[in-house]
Amino acid sequence: MSSDTQDLRGAGPVEAKMLRSVCGLFVTGVTVITSGRGEQAAGTTVNSFTSVSLEPPLVLFCLHRASRLRAVVARSAAYAVNLLAAPQESLALAFASRATASLREVPHHASVTGVPVLSDALGFLSCRLVNTVEAGDHTVFVGEVVEVGLPTRGEEPLVAFRGELGPLREAP
Ligand SMILES: Cc1cc2nc3c(=O)[nH]c(=O)nc-3n(C[C@H](O)[C@H](O)[C@H](O)COP(=O)(O)O)c2cc1C
Repeated sequence: MSSDTQDLRGAGPVEAKMLRSVCGLFVTGVTVITSGRGEQAAGTTVNSFTSVSLEPPLVLFCLHRASRLRAVVARSAAYAVNLLAAPQESLALAFASRATASLREVPHHASVTGVPVLSDALGFLSCRLVNTVEAGDHTVFVGEVVEVGLPTRGEEPLVAFRGELGPLREAP
């Protein structure tokens, strides 16, 4: 092994804290998943979003079984993935707390499925729910993308790394 190669060591049994630390090294964007219509509309901060398939257009995200959004998505059979922009860190934290933010306080409009999208997001994907998979303490929600929204300004994304949120910066 050359001297400038990082010395990676196995860290023993897979404990939740260790798993969280290692997964936190994987840089992701940050989304708010919105679902529900009218008074039922709600949102939760999620970074377990990924694209799955182009033909047909499928995406997924994972939600903890205790999440209040779980029943809302199941009932609505639709959800929207709102990709957050760098200035939306406080919005991400507001939708990640137990006293979750109300959509009434955030500019939004209806997507084609009737579920709301956040008007100031970097971009959005509005989806029809096509499958759910129970996986441990989470549920995987697979959706078919039926509408997309692209940024009209050249905005920067909000990113998550090692449990911290912030703008995308160049490495020093
Ligand atoms: C950056 C970030 C990413 C998160 N990603 C997820 C996720 O992928 N799945 C999940 O269930 N919770 C995730 N959470 C935690 C939820 O946002 C949090 O548990 C929230 O309180 C759930 O609220 P709810 O019960 O209203 O859905 C994340 C939180 C943060 C700050």
